[in-house]
Amino acid sequence: MSVLVCGGAGYIGSHNVRALLDRGEGVVVLDNLWTGHRESLPGSVPFYEGDVRDAALLDRILSEHPVESVIHFCACSLVGESVEQPLRYFNNNVYGMQVLLEAMERHGLDKIVFSSSAAVYGEPRRVPILEDDETAPTNPYGETKRTMERMMHWVGLRHGIRYVSLRYFNVAGAREDGSIGEDHRNETHLVPIILQVPLSRRTHVTVYGDDYPTPDGTCIRDYVHISDLADAHLRALDHLRAGGEGGIFNLGSGAGYSVREMIEAARAATGHAIPVEVGPRRAGDPARLVADSTRAREVLGWVPRVTRMEDIVATAWNWHRTHPNGYGG
Ligand code: NAD
Ligand code: UFG
Repeated sequence: MSVLVCGGAGYIGSHNVRALLDRGEGVVVLDNLWTGHRESLPGSVPFYEGDVRDAALLDRILSEHPVESVIHFCACSLVGESVEQPLRYFNNNVYGMQVLLEAMERHGLDKIVFSSSAAVYGEPRRVPILEDDETAPTNPYGETKRTMERMMHWVGLRHGIRYVSLRYFNVAGAREDGSIGEDHRNETHLVPIILQVPLSRRTHVTVYGDDYPTPDGTCIRDYVHISDLADAHLRALDHLRAGGEGGIFNLGSGAGYSVREMIEAARAATGHAIPVEVGPRRAGDPARLVADSTRAREVLGWVPRVTRMEDIVATAWNWHRTHPNGYGG
């Protein structure tokens, strides 16, 4: 039997594909390579270059492979871009989910694990954030993720599909063996941006605001290592396979680190000086986002292992220093 991994050539998807293969699962990948990389996947993995919104292609894949569950990573996922192009986000993310759920229904598939985001919470009323806290997205990206969760809920009630929605907080790092890592052409994430300094691709890091109500004035986030994230997906699949009812789970390490603390961790991990300039705040950045992941611990038995920021950054650095141009060589 196989797991269909939609968006499996992306940063998080490719790490999950390796984790599935490591434990002997059959895997089929569908990805349109908008932001993903064919090179991030072993050549032996069945790969379909195409769009999750293509119902005929989904029918073909599901008739050619004995798929028993789906992990869905496909999305447009840049917050700023989503504000500029909301309909592109609704089309790719929400309509993509519709076409996928319709195909699952047609082919009798009843298990899906989904990439949600802390962006569904918007500006939180309290931290750490619990899954049942209010969701009030402050941008179209977060709105699409919330809508996709609601679609799975209602379709599940009607058609018996069970889902696990994993609300990732800040994902960082790379596979420990350095074989794959994060390569977003339009990079917005803090850790890879910091590491562009020791790679001589930028002279300094611009800190987006140091006047937040936090101890050092910079924003606090909850960074979760990509390998721990992959482990959570395996546990989510196991949970659904065992007949678990699924639901929504936060995934974070449970501790918050400021932008300045992450830069310090990168100095320690790389041994390089990392000059900093303080710039204006980035619109829409909450001061503090920290997950309460107790539910994932209790229901899925998930315990994040790589929780020292130096260690998370070190795995990212191991990838970037050996692949300074990402998958481009
Ligand atoms: P990514 O852009 O590297 O991966 C997304 C993959 O989906 C890419 O390979 C892309 O080519 C593919 N894709 C997009 N639209 C598609 C479509 N219509 N048909 C087929 N393939 C399509 O992003 P990522 O960082 O790996 O994120 C993966 C998922 O996790 C996304 O859903 C994202 O919203 C979510 N997420 C990411 C983070 C993070 O910190 N990176 C945090 C929270 C949630
Ligand atoms: N930051 C900087 N300078 C940079 C880049 C980032 O100071 O050059 C800061 C940001 O202001 C933020 C922190 O570093 O305070 C982390 O920023 P990222 O862009 O790496 O991550 P976000 O916290 O903005 O994004 C995460 C997830 C998104 C999700 C969002 C919800 O990656 O998927 O949380 O707010 F939408």
